[in-house]
Amino acid sequence: MNLFDVYPINEITIVKAKGSYVWDDKGEQYLDLYGGHAVISIGHTHPHWVQRIEEQLEKIAFYSNSIRIPLQQQLAEKLGKVSGKEDYQLFLCNSGAEANENALKLASFHTGRKKVIAFSKSFHGRTSLAVAATDNKNYVAPVNETENVIFLPFNDDTALERCFDENGKEIAAVIIEGIQGVGGINVADDSFLRKIRSLSDEYEAVYIADSVQCGYGRSGKFFSHDFAGVNADIYTMAKGMGNGFPVAGIIIAPHIKPKHFQLGTTFGGNHLACAAALAVLEIIEEEKLMGNAVMIGKYLKDELESIPQLKNVRGRGLMIGFDVPEDLKDLKKNLLWNQKIFTGEAKPNVIRLLPSLALKKRDAEQFIESIKEEIGLLETV
Ligand SMILES: Cc1ncc(COP(=O)(O)O)c(C=O)c1O
Repeated sequence: MNLFDVYPINEITIVKAKGSYVWDDKGEQYLDLYGGHAVISIGHTHPHWVQRIEEQLEKIAFYSNSIRIPLQQQLAEKLGKVSGKEDYQLFLCNSGAEANENALKLASFHTGRKKVIAFSKSFHGRTSLAVAATDNKNYVAPVNETENVIFLPFNDDTALERCFDENGKEIAAVIIEGIQGVGGINVADDSFLRKIRSLSDEYEAVYIADSVQCGYGRSGKFFSHDFAGVNADIYTMAKGMGNGFPVAGIIIAPHIKPKHFQLGTTFGGNHLACAAALAVLEIIEEEKLMGNAVMIGKYLKDELESIPQLKNVRGRGLMIGFDVPEDLKDLKKNLLWNQKIFTGEAKPNVIRLLPSLALKKRDAEQFIESIKEEIGLLETV
């Protein structure tokens, strides 16, 4: 049997990882500033994370949600504390798309309405509603097409106001990434998020903060939406939550009440996933990783801004993007093959940095040196 060929891949086989480094099967070391797509939050194979998973594995890995799983309650309490949303309620699932799917569904149950507002360049996942709210027609199969999603321009207060004016009574939810990831690192304006909050209040719609990529401390705050100083009704999270162990969730404001069987999942919230997620939060807190994201992120941004060839350096904390001019379009590839550094990309010609929140200063310095060298090398060709 062959693999279903949906991923364009780099011909590299990673066999080992530690902190911000990975090694291939030939023993070559790479600096990982991609984090497997913003997934590695506390660093690869962090000893505390490994230990907690191993210990849990020896006890019990899985049982269904038909019994009490105290680890879920422990996780809810820890997440409430670290995120500052102590009065929210946690529903656990398995992936970012599933988190958004559940958030949108819950908003529709709660309001009894069907319409969702999403924004240009959004990415919310591949499942039916999540992909319908994703601004990329290539991912939307005919069966996913719906008239229930209204796309508006990102950061456009006037368009949002007009849309609520015209359809306010039909809007179940507004879903927005605090910093668009796949769309190319576009930061939602704080004032725009406040506008979403106030219009959602006025029209009794649900404000959903997609924090799958920009959440979990990556921006320097637990949720990047929190820079706006207002709360969302539902936050969705996944990538950094398990540091590579598949676990996701949504947290739900207290005014949205649960009903038995409205949401559900077989695997979500299993013992092993909870152990992994608890280990991540313990390390984020203990090693003050949000502070590190602010500090190293600032260093990287300042240094990148001083390189004249790189344009429009943007982002928050350790979620950084910049535009690469046409004559440097191979920069990402060259960083990988010449400098042994993984970075992310977004089309067209955007490089994304999504490293572990524990990235060390010396690794950030090495990256800056390497990128300067590559730009110099390319210029002399
Ligand atoms: C903002 C955002 N939402 C949702 C998703 C979907 O997450 P998953 O691939 O875990 O389903 C992604 C994945 O890249 C994402 O970046």
